[in-house]
Amino acid sequence: MTPPATTSVPASASASASDASAEALRQRALRALRTARERTGALTECVEEPDLTAQHSPLMSPLVWDLAHIGNQEELWLLRAVGGREPMHPEIDPLYDAFEHPRAERPSLPLLAPAEARGYAREVRSRVLDLLEHAPMEGGQLLDAGFVFGMVAQHEQQHDETMLITHQLRRGDAVLSAPEPPAPERAAVPASEVLVPGGQFTMGTSTEPWALDNERPAHHRFVPSFFIDTLPVTNGAYQHFVADGGYEEPRWWAPQGWEQIRKHHLTAPLFWRRENGQWLRRRFGVVEPVPANEPVMHVSWYEADAYARWAGRRLPSEAEWEKAARHDPATGRSMRYPWGDGDPTPERANLGQRHLRPAGAGSYPAGESPLGVRQLIGDVWEWTSSDFMPYPGFAVFPYREYSEVFFGSAHKVLRGGSFAVDPVACRGTFRNWDLPVRRQIFSGFRTARDV
Ligand code: AVJ
Ligand code: FE
Repeated sequence: MTPPATTSVPASASASASDASAEALRQRALRALRTARERTGALTECVEEPDLTAQHSPLMSPLVWDLAHIGNQEELWLLRAVGGREPMHPEIDPLYDAFEHPRAERPSLPLLAPAEARGYAREVRSRVLDLLEHAPMEGGQLLDAGFVFGMVAQHEQQHDETMLITHQLRRGDAVLSAPEPPAPERAAVPASEVLVPGGQFTMGTSTEPWALDNERPAHHRFVPSFFIDTLPVTNGAYQHFVADGGYEEPRWWAPQGWEQIRKHHLTAPLFWRRENGQWLRRRFGVVEPVPANEPVMHVSWYEADAYARWAGRRLPSEAEWEKAARHDPATGRSMRYPWGDGDPTPERANLGQRHLRPAGAGSYPAGESPLGVRQLIGDVWEWTSSDFMPYPGFAVFPYREYSEVFFGSAHKVLRGGSFAVDPVACRGTFRNWDLPVRRQIFSGFRTARDV
């Protein structure tokens, strides 16, 4: 990036245009990295040391592990892989390799103490900012369009959602607060379900610059006609299932789901409890009545699947979900989001931990799809019926442990993102996955049916 010593050739228009676009990409990367670090700070500065080093649930890492792991991944990909720098502290790499130590083991490791973890992440970041000033935004798959910077920002945001889940599992007084989401405009939702006409659509992407490997490549899928809910399933609707004895009736449940609710005596979504004939829930340290019109969350895939069967319906497949979210019947094209190709805004979707809960069902009319399906993006992750499988033509990039090692029938796909995920890690094509028993995640669902 250093200008040549002798300059006889005047800079061509195209060279300066590409300089300008490289600079725009660097600014975009910088903003994404900054936004992530602000969130990481908010989630780790609001509690005292013991809450950072404690394991609040065997399902989660101590917050201080996430903090140093965020710094370690940033060092690996930006300072070492891109910058060619030597490891800063090679001895800590194995501690923060998610595959060396399962979450339950992490508290017994000689982890960096909170001040050291913060110092490490801060030092990595300051070196990254120096590197970013002149980093090329092309010259290979890792660098093109600033992909690796986007990948690292998405990684940090994914751990920010993970850390928010840890906060939700943490016992004790509330430490987080946020404004309430906008009120729903349910009256303006014309129907409870819409028909998505059968036909081919383009699933996945080959053009979205920061899309991760499992979202690629774009390919055609034929999806027969189906109906899909215009809104996510609400707490009120789910309460009817509970009140109707849904958790006592094996015929609604997949066999392993039935096994799980029997073994653990489950009777309602995680964090719910019944008191004086009323459903209450604990949300970030506050106990409150379960709001009837809010999308249900903290349900497992098995609970979503059982509810859908009870309702005479089923979960949408991943392809059905994406077609409902991206297909524009007017042009036959797949859009980036339900509302079009523009980036998410606060008017379109509840993302980025701006609010600490899903918005009521019927909110975000500006985010609705051409067929009138709302809240596909944001609010709650939506379980689909599909196993997490590679798309035809999938290629690992840049590391096997992001997606490939999770492909198979053990994991179910979730789509659309929750209120806890930043827009940088949420797209119409974005794929999340988890075990079907998991319910500490911000998971909900909508239902579908055959025509
Ligand atoms: C895509 C959310 C399932 O948290 O396990 C974070 C993201 N990958 N670090 C996870 C991830 C590596 C991943 N999920
Ligand atoms: Fe990670």
